[in-house]
Amino acid sequence: MRISTQTISSLKGERPIVAVTAYDAVMARYADEAGVDLILVGDSVGTTQLGFETTIPVTLEMMLHHTAAVARTKPQALVVADIPFAVAHGEFKDLLEACRRLMQIAGAEAVKIEGGASMAPKIERLTNAGIPVLAHIGLLPQQFHQLGGYRKFGRSEAEKLILVADALALEKAGCFAVLCEMVDGPVASTIAQELALPLIGIGSGSHCDGQILVTNDLLGMTAGYVPSFVKQYADLGNQIRGAFEAYAEDVRKGNFPS
Ligand code: KIV
Repeated sequence: MRISTQTISSLKGERPIVAVTAYDAVMARYADEAGVDLILVGDSVGTTQLGFETTIPVTLEMMLHHTAAVARTKPQALVVADIPFAVAHGEFKDLLEACRRLMQIAGAEAVKIEGGASMAPKIERLTNAGIPVLAHIGLLPQQFHQLGGYRKFGRSEAEKLILVADALALEKAGCFAVLCEMVDGPVASTIAQELALPLIGIGSGSHCDGQILVTNDLLGMTAGYVPSFVKQYADLGNQIRGAFEAYAEDVRKGNFPS
């Protein structure tokens, strides 16, 4: 059964939502065959696949290219495309046009936008226009330079109140779910209780309504820093290197072709 944004919203209280990122047809197929509910074509494509240090250089053209590759596999899972930094904070008409291209041309079924209550007015205009939006609060990697690095959010009372207010404003703006990144576990739990919508967590403890992980992290294919909350389910990076080494040795020793 194909998963819609309504399915995702209705899973709250029924069972945990399982989400992963994917950036190409190969990974999208494997994730979908494994039965995940949601595939996010995250702007983490910039750091995981394209060699950038942050997600900030990721452009709409890159997101279109990778979203189309994922959507072409026609997964049962919901395909959500990230809105790049510059587009989210530019003119509303450009944001609307970006959503049109991601949905009409690339085949996304929803978009994800980083930002709290300050993004709610724009998000409300999108949802009123029939564009399903997954909100993203807590750590916002697109604001890396302003934040001065990655850290946990919600540890002070003031930050906790802001996060709860952000989530409620985004719910009111018509989002179908909220993603929260690197939010203190008890605070994420409070937000999940306050929201009628599902809260999908990453590095935000076990009391969210679902979890998302970056595929490269969970498969053991991350070149640099892996956040401590990640559980690695495979060691593909070392396996891939080993396969290349075996191939190189075979060719050099004349064992392949035999
Ligand atoms: O771009 C991304 O991969 C994300 C993660 C937090 C899931 O937004």
